[in-house]
Amino acid sequence: MDSMYKIAHDISEIDWWRLADIMARAPLFERKPFDLAQAFRNSDAVVFAHADGVLVGAARALSDGVYYATIYDVAVAPEHQGCGVGRQMVSALLSKLPVERVFLTSVFGKEGFYERFGFLAQTNAMGRYAEPARGQALASGVLTAVRTTSSLGVTKTSN
Ligand SMILES: CC(C)(COP(=O)(O)OP(=O)(O)OC[C@H]1O[C@@H](n2cnc3c(N)ncnc32)[C@H](O)[C@@H]1OP(=O)(O)O)[C@@H](O)C(=O)NCCC(=O)NCCS
Repeated sequence: MDSMYKIAHDISEIDWWRLADIMARAPLFERKPFDLAQAFRNSDAVVFAHADGVLVGAARALSDGVYYATIYDVAVAPEHQGCGVGRQMVSALLSKLPVERVFLTSVFGKEGFYERFGFLAQTNAMGRYAEPARGQALASGVLTAVRTTSSLGVTKTSN
């Protein structure tokens, strides 16, 4: 099944309207094609999957090339999910990220997909989101208030 897919890193011919459609239907995010193009062009590593010349998936990462990299926007068109496309894309992306630590935030329920590449849950991760993403993430439980215990033994909560 894998052989019908071509994995590529070339960004020059990407149809950003098609990628926005894939992201919406995956489902992952509703993204504007222009913003997606800018985000992928500003990324340090990108990967795309094509079937018969048609875009079917993408992923990208930011990286300092030495210590840290973060993976974003991993999405496969629903009609091509479960065919090894995501595995091939993430493998190809990781091969471009020779750093000490690679981060990502997983959609709930997709952790097992990333576990296969060696990712583990990270208990000390924090996120600073702009509104409206902040409110949505607080409501869904993705972001939670930090609970710290002072030297007096008083538990403080901030949000
Ligand atoms: C998550 C996603 C990228 C996976 O891509 P995919 O092409 O469907 O996955 P693959 O077929 O390459 O699966 C690779 C392996 O991971 C496993 N896997 C896939 N999804 C999984 C999940 N949710 N939990 C556990 N394992 C999973 C597959 O069974 C397969 O195992 P195998 O190698 O033993 O056969 C894709 O389903 C998708 O785009 N989902 C919607 C958007 C999304 O949630 N993206 C993730 C953002 S964090």
